[in-house]
This record gives sequence, structure tokens and C-alpha cells, in this order.
Amino acid sequence: MIPAEIRKFYRMAEEAAAFFKAHLMGRSRVRIITHVDADGIAAAGVLARCLHAYDVPFHIRFTSPLKPAEIMELGNEGYDLFIFVDQGSGQISAIEKFLLEKGCDVLILDHHPSELPKHRNLSYLNPHACGLNGAKDVSAAGVVYSLVERVDASFTRLIGHAITGAIGDRQEFYSGFAGVNETLLKRAIDLGLLCTRTGLKLIGRWLPIAECLAMSIRPYLHGLSYELGACRSLIEELKIPPETTLEELDETSEEKLRDAIIARMGATAACESFRRTLWGTIYRMTREVVGPPNVHEQVAVLDACGKLGKPQVGFALTVGDRTMLPEAMETLRTYQEKMREALSWFAANLTSFKTTQQMHYVLTSEKVDESLLGEALALAMESGIVPTDRPVIGMVEVDATELKVSARATPDLAMRGVNVGQAIAKAAKTVGGEGGGHDVSAAARIPRDRVKEFITKLDQSLAEGDVDEPSAASTIGV
Ligand code: C5P
Repeated sequence: MIPAEIRKFYRMAEEAAAFFKAHLMGRSRVRIITHVDADGIAAAGVLARCLHAYDVPFHIRFTSPLKPAEIMELGNEGYDLFIFVDQGSGQISAIEKFLLEKGCDVLILDHHPSELPKHRNLSYLNPHACGLNGAKDVSAAGVVYSLVERVDASFTRLIGHAITGAIGDRQEFYSGFAGVNETLLKRAIDLGLLCTRTGLKLIGRWLPIAECLAMSIRPYLHGLSYELGACRSLIEELKIPPETTLEELDETSEEKLRDAIIARMGATAACESFRRTLWGTIYRMTREVVGPPNVHEQVAVLDACGKLGKPQVGFALTVGDRTMLPEAMETLRTYQEKMREALSWFAANLTSFKTTQQMHYVLTSEKVDESLLGEALALAMESGIVPTDRPVIGMVEVDATELKVSARATPDLAMRGVNVGQAIAKAAKTVGGEGGGHDVSAAARIPRDRVKEFITKLDQSLAEGDVDEPSAASTIGV
């Protein structure tokens, strides 16, 4: 029996699809604003395929959530329909003021929390409106997919992209997927569009194993990542022929390799998130795709393209443009190198982290690019580099006046009442900045000279949540 919340979500998807269909049949020109991460790019790919199939002209912008002034500018553009993907819920006041009040049609396909108003020009699909949680039950790609499959059943072939978005937004938990994601995964497997197996969740499974290990940032393998010589010796010790790839290893040999990697990791291996990031379910698209069929690898490519300012390259792959593949793979390599620098910085500077009652926080060096900061924190937590007993906050200077803040919490903390999205929005507002996000992942921009006040306020805001007391001992630092 499908839970009532999911049934409500699908009912709302029907309504949103009907609103959208009216624009597919006429002469509408569509403006899409989507988020610049793996989920936002995957979601845009699904939407673009649908619009293309109906010959509807559209223009896509990849961006972090738009500021009110930018939404005001949109109001001066001559589009018939504005679609906000993976954003829009948090920007609803500006959307109301600058688009809806001008008579523009708006469709919001988002999974960020917010209360959305009733308006005859507005349609939306958002899991939070159905009693679901957008941080775990469905990603933006799943939201968009749920709409387009109701436009035309032939789009069912795109279902795998919903899983790409969900994995991109870290919605795969130790227990698997939940909510809408769980139903989509089951259907994708039943339809033969996705297959799964258990193994090392590393990307580059088609490379010689030493190279695959050496490029790993998720998880970061201390002593192996970016240490090709050490990786080669490990493979030699295990008597695996040097050119063998992970795809070619039999199950027992892959388990032996996993155990050997874990044995090398020392204390890190005790960290459950590290072990779960290293080993588990691998998802593979069975239909021909441009780029890697391994979903974790697709996510890495899209993330790399988004974070390095080339979202259009990742998007090109999602819509089947093979000519962009070399640039996408090159972007992935550059991204991994930058991320390795960021992770090594975290590993070498644990003493720079401060611990308060509710959180760990750090002001990072310029080695950690502001666009990579949030993902670098998430990878550091998954890789067992920084402890996960409380939320981890990173801050980096954007310029002389502004700081970018990223916050990450584990699903376990969220289950205990932590909501970094709410806390960061409140704290940022108090100091004249702005921010928001999900319970487990959020960001803000704040004035640099009010950082102390921000930290105090953030600590208080986190304490106001329902969280159980974190253990008193700080686990950061030597
Ligand atoms: O930049 P970072 O990766 O740390 O962002 C984390 C999350 O915070 C993203 O999902 C982003 O959409 C969300 N966010 C938001 N509102 C903001 C800033 C960030 O919802 N004002």
C-alpha cells in the first residue's frame, strides 16, 4: 500500500502536469531557472527532453537560488512561463511580487521547504506540501520526472535520472531510499532501466584498479587517494594483475580488496559513514547513456561541471550530446584535484576547527573554493576526516566584505531534530545576511565583520531545535 503522502504527491503531480501541458500545446516560450548542482542539472535534463519533444522553445539558466533583484529582472523578460527547478520555494515572496503580480505563469518544481500560496498563475510540485521531506523523500530530479511522466508515458525511459538527482543530493541512506525515491527506484528496476549490485562505490570502475583508487575523493582514502605508487603496491600485494578493472573483479576478490583498503585506513575505518561510502549498492543505467552508466559516476561528473562553472557541459550529457563527453571527463579530473586539495587541507588543519555546544566550525583557507566548500564538508564527513557528532559549518571569505557559509549535518542528526537550514536562515538574517536550505544541507552569505555574532546566533538557533544533547567531548583536534 502506497502511503497517503506519496499518493498526495502524485495527485499534485497530475495537477502540475495539467498546468504545464497547457504550455506545451500552444506557442509558449519557457524560461527555466535551475540549481547548479548534480540534482538541478539532472532535473533540467529531464525537463528539457520533454520540452524538446513538444518543440517548445526554452532558455535555461543554471544558478544558485536567485536573489530578489534577479527575479525582478526576470519579470522584464518576455517569457510565457517561468519554471523554477530545485529552487523557487524559498524565493516565493519575490516570485509573487515580480512575476505573479505581473500576470506571468510560474511553475515551481522544487523540494526545498516553504509554504506556497494559492494563485491562479502558479502551479507547483513540492514534497513538503504533501507531508514528505524534500531532504530525503525526493530530489528535484524526482519532482520533475514525476511531472513529465504524467505529461506522456514515453518519458518513463528517463526514470533513471530521478535516481541520479537523489544520489546527487545524498538521499540514499544506510537503509536505502525512502518515500517517492523508493517507489521510483523500484519501478526503474522493474522496468529494467536500472540494475544494481553490491561492491566498491568508487568511480572509475572501468580504469585499472590502482588508478581508480588513486582518484578517489568519495571517500577520500587516506594514504591511497592521489598516491598512485601506494595503490599499485596494494594491488600487487593482493596479486591482482595491474591492468584489471573493478568491473572485471569477481565478488570474492572485490571483497578482499575492500578489506585490504579498510585495513590501510586505521582509525578512519571505524567510522560507519566511511565504510558505507566505500561499499554498498552500485546503480547502473542499462539503456545507452552519454557518459558513465554508473550512477555515482554520473553524479560526480554533473557535480564537477556544476561546481566548476560548466553546468551546460553536464547538461549536454543528460540530453545526449556526445560531443561534450571529453570536456565533461576533463572537468571531472580537474574537480577531483581541487577537491583533493580541499580534503587534504581539512585533514591537515583539524586544529583549526572550533567546537561549540551545538556544532563544529572552521574558517577555511583560500584552498577551499567557495563553490566547493559545502561538498568538501560533506566529503570530509563521509570520509571520516571530520567528526559527525554535531553539524559541521565551514566559512570562507568571498571578498573583503562577505563570507560564504556552508553547513552539513548527517541524517542521524536530522532525525534527532537538527535543522541546519532553519538555523542558518535565522542566524544569517540576524546579522544582515541571507541563507537557507534543508535540514542536512544549507548555506548562507553573511557580512564578514559580523562573523562572531553569527556564530553565537547559529549555536543558539541550533540549540532551539529538538536535538538531543550532543556528547560533551570535542572529537576534533589532536
Ligand atoms: O552552497 P552549498 O552546497 O553549501 O548549499 C547547500 C544547500 O543550501 C543547497 O541545497 C542550496 O540550494 C541551499 N540554499 C538555500 N538557500 C540559500 C542558500 C543555499 O536553500 N539561500
